[in-house]
Amino acid sequence: MAAAFRIAAAMAVALVLLLLILPPRVAMADEPPYSCGPPPPPSSSLAAQGQQQQPHRFCDARLTAEQRAADLVANLTLAEKVSQLGDRAAGVARLGVPAYEWWSEGLHGLSIWGRGIRFNGTVRAVTSFPQVILTAAAFDAGLWRRVGEAVGAEARALYNLGQANGLTIWSPNVNIFRDPMWGRGQETPGEDPVTASRYAVAFVTGLQGIGGEASACCKHATAYDLDYWNNVVTLQDLEDTYNPPFKSCVAEGKATCIMCGYNSINGVPACASSDLLTKKVRQEWGMNGYVASDCDAVATIRDAHHYTLSPEDTVAVSIKAGMDVNCGNYTQVHAMPAVQKGNLTEKDIDRALVNLFAVRMRLGHFDGDPRSNAVYGHLGAADVCSPAHKSLALEAAQDGIVLLKNDVGALPLQPSAVTSLAVIGPNADNLGALHGNYFGPPCETTTPLQGIKGYFGDRARFLAGCDSPACAVAATNEAAALASSSDHVVLFMGLSQKQEQEGLDRTSLLLPGEQQGLITAVANAARRPVILVLLTGGPVDVTFAKDNPKIGAILWAGYPGQAGGLAIAKVLFGDHNPIGRLPVTWYPEEFTKVPMTDMRMRADPATGYPGRSYRFYQGNTVYNFGYGLSYSKFSRRMFSSFSTSNTGNLSLLAGVMARRAGDDGGGMSSYLVKEIGVERCSRLVFPAVVEVQNHGPMDGKHSVLMYLRWPTKSGGRPARQLIGFRSQHVKVGEKAMVSFEVSPCEHFSWVGEDGERVIDGGAHFLMVGDEELETSFGLWGLS
Ligand SMILES: *[C@@H]1O[C@H](CO)[C@@H](O)[C@H](O)[C@H]1NC(C)=O
Ligand SMILES: *[C@@H]1O[C@H](CO)[C@@H](O)[C@H](O)[C@H]1NC(C)=O
Ligand SMILES: *[C@@H]1O[C@H](CO)[C@@H](O)[C@H](O)[C@H]1NC(C)=O
Ligand SMILES: *[C@@H]1O[C@H](CO)[C@@H](O)[C@H](O)[C@H]1NC(C)=O
Ligand SMILES: *[C@@H]1O[C@H](CO)[C@@H](O)[C@H](O)[C@H]1NC(C)=O
Repeated sequence: MAAAFRIAAAMAVALVLLLLILPPRVAMADEPPYSCGPPPPPSSSLAAQGQQQQPHRFCDARLTAEQRAADLVANLTLAEKVSQLGDRAAGVARLGVPAYEWWSEGLHGLSIWGRGIRFNGTVRAVTSFPQVILTAAAFDAGLWRRVGEAVGAEARALYNLGQANGLTIWSPNVNIFRDPMWGRGQETPGEDPVTASRYAVAFVTGLQGIGGEASACCKHATAYDLDYWNNVVTLQDLEDTYNPPFKSCVAEGKATCIMCGYNSINGVPACASSDLLTKKVRQEWGMNGYVASDCDAVATIRDAHHYTLSPEDTVAVSIKAGMDVNCGNYTQVHAMPAVQKGNLTEKDIDRALVNLFAVRMRLGHFDGDPRSNAVYGHLGAADVCSPAHKSLALEAAQDGIVLLKNDVGALPLQPSAVTSLAVIGPNADNLGALHGNYFGPPCETTTPLQGIKGYFGDRARFLAGCDSPACAVAATNEAAALASSSDHVVLFMGLSQKQEQEGLDRTSLLLPGEQQGLITAVANAARRPVILVLLTGGPVDVTFAKDNPKIGAILWAGYPGQAGGLAIAKVLFGDHNPIGRLPVTWYPEEFTKVPMTDMRMRADPATGYPGRSYRFYQGNTVYNFGYGLSYSKFSRRMFSSFSTSNTGNLSLLAGVMARRAGDDGGGMSSYLVKEIGVERCSRLVFPAVVEVQNHGPMDGKHSVLMYLRWPTKSGGRPARQLIGFRSQHVKVGEKAMVSFEVSPCEHFSWVGEDGERVIDGGAHFLMVGDEELETSFGLWGLS
């Protein structure tokens, strides 16, 4: 290194240090926005204006976030307060408060949806994890948490780099994937409330990090998925299906935000419901944070639901119900007239603002330069698209992919034994099919075709077969000719955002356009059974492929993210043993006659309503919830220490008031969980241990899904309910123990028609997968 250059470099370092020591009061481009830095140098113009000679009380880090927020709010004028009530919150220059953008997204990686993050600075790409429905299929809470951590760290890194003016991420979406045609089902962890609850806790805990890297927001409370509908929901479905993910999200995951949706619930718009936003979310579930409205959801209280008469009344009703910040400017525009007309008081606004500023306090926006923070100040460009995050994106895709069919051992392919390979289908080389919705610019991408070429080079011959997944016209003859001249054929079919996305639900569960005909023609022409890979978010009815012996294997790969093509290739060529399980029921096409607007989970045989999800649906399926094959054969045995030794604790239940479940027919006694109480419940917990053995031929992970089965469906009891899941790597020929903590109050209970959680006396049946492995955990001691 030349001396002159060395001196210049040293000067540059000194300059950078100087700039770090003297942060500006209002952030410049490429500076993180913050407040409460050290006082400006005496010569600066800010000092000349006589500002901030005394540090503000709200800058005092010894006070609680709420105390600091209250002090700041007390110093704002009414107009300044009103300017804080939209996602674009104005700055207050006289107090050194920077403008803030509440709306950012990080569903499966930071996203171009939202307004708080810019991808045009030092960092231009972020890690794009699989769309959530695929990551959910891994049934691995540790994985979900690590994905959340990665997204949180990348958010904080962009913030430190001055490329974000917000750290409030409006993710995850933990609505129940209730109807298979829902366009946003891809964003969710599936149809099961326990899976969704575990996902919420894991992702939120990861994203919010140990040092408060970012703030997560569980959306859309509640019973959402039909945007502007008045969703009619029973108390039973609300308490055991729609609400649990939100409860877990705030009570256990400690999410600092809940978003209210566009829908109304039994006549009350979600963003106007004080029963939901204040009584449940804040008081019962104990949320310490803020409530955001979905974008322009406040306006829809009047414009779509006609619940209020004037805009003033509308903003008043929502703020009084417990909503704190409205995405959009409707509240900012109408709050002042609402105060003037007497619909809203300044005190109502103050309550919302203290919630909002307390969250910003906890995110460190009022602690000086965030780059000097001991926990997250070091995060920067090297922490975005890091090797660790990229390999996590690959791991999430690999572990989510579900092997649905492998009848004749068509998979895995041996690259050395394959002489020629045809890759056919509109999703084989389609970047759009990797990401689903709510994505950001990815660090790098591997399409399935590229992934296969990584193994097979240019000997893989490719034909899209249709111009897009809509597949209005198919090149059937060409595809059949390619198939007949190839040793092996892999088809990449499925859906895209043109068939399923936000605001676009499907009307059919079949593959679109000419896809089915194309697949069948290719399978007929091929020399040996073909391999069908489906890239979709929601389920598709592929009965034709399941039943066709010329289709040897079927894989479902969701929308697999930036490393999706590599993950699929690893599965195809046997470098990864598939482990994923379907997080939704794959219904047959006939399910489309069930009205999407019917929110009921439980079947109603009297009217032919079949019910929804593995818990209640009584009709035929294409593939079941929890279904997924492996290249290896695994066997399982269950052990439990819960039998006689715990009867002592069971007698703890004696004296708990028993009540008759209204219509269970059998005269079975059930016990109110709330009357058993937290303390007694905790003493009933027992371990259930499952031994998993891998009979080969390949090492790999196995996921164990444990269910409780109810002997009767009366009273609205589910047929069964997933109570826990674990995955475990097991080598060929070896055994491993997987342990579950079973809590009867939580896992044996069900919700009655009155919305109360109860435990039945009598036998309880634990199952692993679809097999009943152990029965009769008697709560006989109860009566
Ligand atoms: C902020 O409010 C506190 C108490 O209400 C008051 O003592 C203080 O002077 C105010 N500061 C500013 C800058 O307005
Ligand atoms: C990035 O985009 C933002 C908003 O569009 C703009 O204000 C900013 O100047 C851009 N920064 C760079 C470095 O181009
Ligand atoms: C509010 O937002 C709408 C839509 O983005 C925009 O057209 C309008 O100008 C905004 N109004 C104000 C007062 O900012
Ligand atoms: C709110 O404002 C409307 C007019 O916009 C008025 O009719 C109504 O009485 C007001 N409600 C309250 C509670 O003040
Ligand atoms: C009851 O539960 C407690 C706490 O889990 C445990 O230590 C104790 O051994 C149990 N008693 C019986 C009789 O099983």
